[in-house]
Amino acid sequence: MLTETLSATIDEPAVTLDNFRVADEDLPEFRDMKFEDINQLDLDHPGASDEEYRERRNYIAGLAKKFRDTGEITDVDYTDEEQGIWRKVAGQLEELHQRRASQFYLDAKRDLGFSNDRIPQLSEMNCRLKELTGFRLAPIEGLVETRAFLSWLSFRTMLSTQYIRHHSKPEYTPEPDIVHEAIGHIPTFTNKNFADYSQFIGHGARIANDRQLEELGRLYWFTVEFGLKEEDGEIKAYGAGLLSSVGELEHAFGNEVERRPFDFEEVINHDFTYSDLQPVLYVIPSYSYLKDVTRKYIESF
Ligand SMILES: [Fe+2]
Repeated sequence: MLTETLSATIDEPAVTLDNFRVADEDLPEFRDMKFEDINQLDLDHPGASDEEYRERRNYIAGLAKKFRDTGEITDVDYTDEEQGIWRKVAGQLEELHQRRASQFYLDAKRDLGFSNDRIPQLSEMNCRLKELTGFRLAPIEGLVETRAFLSWLSFRTMLSTQYIRHHSKPEYTPEPDIVHEAIGHIPTFTNKNFADYSQFIGHGARIANDRQLEELGRLYWFTVEFGLKEEDGEIKAYGAGLLSSVGELEHAFGNEVERRPFDFEEVINHDFTYSDLQPVLYVIPSYSYLKDVTRKYIESF
């Protein structure tokens, strides 16, 4: 039944629940991506009043628009200043990752050939991900609405920004940028169970009613963005929002956070705010567990 109804949001070839290899030919046309609203630069962004920064961000965002017409990713010729922001943040996070990140994440950075000295290109990450789990990245020029963003995961595709945060605040960005995507999200797609889990969320988003979509958004938030995992008697981080931010990662292991065992019903009903440091985080026992409970949940839609 799920197969018949999956095309509700994206009018393209249905992908069955057990198809974990989505070929390029099975993808919807990127040029048909419809977004109600793509985030421009909010006034609270550190670069909002920096004309040069705005122009540069618009230029890189333009490459993502070009991708939708051509299907070809344009590598970004990052400037020395941009590479400097990456070096600073990646270097600061490295030591914290060694102590706090899930083991598979540390392995993944190595498998992907990550360097703290150079911003990776989406095209090169795609080559490695294709070999490992068949996941892929597609450039996008900003934050899009929840259903559209999550639905693309159904095609083992994550929409990813390419521009980088403002140099005045290297440790902070109010919107996704290449630091958040590449340090936070991309390595997690090298794990088959995690990649499959992400795809299930995508399947769910394509057929969810509004209430279920909100639930999926919370599930995504407390796992993909802020997830913790039990590993050999210790708690480790795998969420992108944690792994890409020194402040969030330190906070997650501090005394002000309640780290609760993962309870599916509780998580999908737990409201959160985007801006605050999270007071409650959830600890999963394994990625395969997450995949199994999520499958059952979306099969109930
Ligand atoms: Fe994210």
